[in-house]
Amino acid sequence: MKKTTSAFAAVLLLVMLAAVQQLAVPVVLADDVSCSGVINDLSLCLDFLQGNAGQPSDRCCTGVKAIYAAADTAAARQATCECLKSAYNMVNADLYATQTLPGACGVPLSYTISPDINCSQIE
Ligand SMILES: *[C@@H]1O[C@H](CO)[C@@H](O)[C@H](O)[C@H]1NC(C)=O
Repeated sequence: MKKTTSAFAAVLLLVMLAAVQQLAVPVVLADDVSCSGVINDLSLCLDFLQGNAGQPSDRCCTGVKAIYAAADTAAARQATCECLKSAYNMVNADLYATQTLPGACGVPLSYTISPDINCSQIE
């Protein structure tokens, strides 16, 4: 009886772990997809962001404008901010270049990106 119960418990645990994994995967993917969209849009700006170009290219600015257009709610702007922050740290970007990029592309960003910006304060 005891043995049956613990075997049952073990099976139940496996089922629960499988269920948790199935739940967890799409959540991680969804988060990853939105950030990878932002990073994909910014990938054409890498030269400029790393301080190796005087002006961002037209294709870079197209990406910057797409990011800006997609951030049309406070929640989206906060999520975009988080993505920009991690992208900034990931590519080891030049802070001045990063902060001037929106303006150089004619995009009126309402906040200044910095490595320690608190994204949850963006409205
Ligand atoms: C960021 O701002 C929010 C809202 O003002 C605040 O609750 C939170 O503690 C801040 N986080 C950090 C890391 O400063």
